[in-house]
Amino acid sequence: EIVIEENTTGFCRVDGSVDNNNDGFTGTGFANTDNATGTGVNWQIEVSQAGTYSLQWRYANGGANGRPGDVLIDGQTQFYGVAFAVTNGWTTWANSETIELWLEQGTHTIRLQATTADGLGNIDSLSI
Ligand code: GCU
Ligand code: CA
Repeated sequence: EIVIEENTTGFCRVDGSVDNNNDGFTGTGFANTDNATGTGVNWQIEVSQAGTYSLQWRYANGGANGRPGDVLIDGQTQFYGVAFAVTNGWTTWANSETIELWLEQGTHTIRLQATTADGLGNIDSLSI
């Protein structure tokens, strides 16, 4: 398993900001997407062997509603609607549901992209 934090080269784009104002995150911060449909977070990963991989996010959602996101690999949607249920506070962090995806060998961009106008929950890390 690898855990990709914002302070590694793997955490490469946030449609918003990397913040540290809500306690309980790991590493040096978390990704705060702008609250709008289609905003997201990108990671670049290198897959040494093709196969089915499990993906899970650590996140906080102190909003009133779930903040689901689609998962795109190299720009193509491969999973619709990962749930990011409310965690009842921006300093209360949880692990998302786990999804399984096939990844070919090589370098890929994984993008988690909001499907509601609230944007994503705050994203702390991705574990693969
Ligand atoms: C609060 C919180 C942010 C969060 C935002 C949101 O402002 O401090 O970290 O991203 O709500 O609703 O998305
Ligand atoms: Ca936000």
